Amino acid sequence: MLILGIESSCDDAAAAVLETTAPGIADIRSSTVANQDDIHRAYGGIVPELASRSHVVTIGPVIERALDGAGCRLVDIEGIAVTRGPGLVGSLLVGLMFAKGLAQASGVAMVGVNHIEGHLLAPLLENRIAMPYLALVVSGGHTALFAVEDFGRYRRIGSTRDDAAGEAFDKVAKLMGLGYPGGRAIDEMSRRGNRKSVRIPRAHVRGAPMDFSFSGVKTAVATILASEDGRAGRPEDLAASFQEAVVDMLVKPTIAAARELGADTIALTGGVAANSRLRDRLAEAAAADGRRLVAPALEYCTDNAAMIALAGGYRLIRGERDALSIDAQANLAL
Ligand code: KG4
Ligand code: ZN
Repeated sequence: MLILGIESSCDDAAAAVLETTAPGIADIRSSTVANQDDIHRAYGGIVPELASRSHVVTIGPVIERALDGAGCRLVDIEGIAVTRGPGLVGSLLVGLMFAKGLAQASGVAMVGVNHIEGHLLAPLLENRIAMPYLALVVSGGHTALFAVEDFGRYRRIGSTRDDAAGEAFDKVAKLMGLGYPGGRAIDEMSRRGNRKSVRIPRAHVRGAPMDFSFSGVKTAVATILASEDGRAGRPEDLAASFQEAVVDMLVKPTIAAARELGADTIALTGGVAANSRLRDRLAEAAAADGRRLVAPALEYCTDNAAMIALAGGYRLIRGERDALSIDAQANLAL
């Protein structure tokens, strides 16, 4: 079945064409993204109104590019999978309305997909992974551990009590004047820094070993930057020490959850999964514990439509479809 995936939940407009034969088994025929970083950079964060306005302009061309890349036309598409939440409601509406229009015009089935389900299943785009597996979703908006038990059966076993890890990266990058989005800048800068030179406290959630907390680490960096010593120190060292603290705080609960679940495979997904130190450290910790780490290629870690096509695909090949009256839901639960 040839599926068109559409994603516009936040600041990326994305489309992909996937050929799927069975749940979770897919051949990525194309995957395209229109990135808006240049639009939001001047504001140091995403401006929702600008995001949705930009989506209105780019969504059509992005879908055309995906169809071209796959060497097919709209009439060849047999199903449409589109993100319906969670996310910025104005952004979500653009992709959803476009999908409804295409479904109405072509008569093919459309399903609405939960964005988080897309991230949870993204590791299957390039790997065969037996279920149940443990997924760490770590992005600008989410930081959580899920047991992926089956298609459509996900159990949250830990999550952040405050900020998402990506949010901490972005806020610290802003404090350090590294621009937006800041995760990658911190990752790159950290390669030249000493990870042990600046003391950053690690937060643990008492009584909840599989939960996370990242608001304290941001405050710690702000306090250091406000002090004379902090300002005199090398920014590379601060970046590397901060990053190491975040990685420590992600690795520990993840390994605890994998043990509790008895999961052979840990899947790392979401934008922060692009972080080189997190990949290395989690791979090491998993191997030391007799487990395997699977992380998607970078383009499938960050927001993309291939994961949405995969997550909608298992329902479409079962013959399911959603009514064209479904709504976008900013807080859609999994
Ligand atoms: O999944 P994503 O594209 O969007 C959502 O939040 O859903 O993730 C974006 C987040 C941003 O916070 C960005 O700073 C972070 O991923 N990020 C990174 C790296 N690359 C992207 N964080 C740390 N290290 C990186 N290399
Ligand atoms: Zn995302």
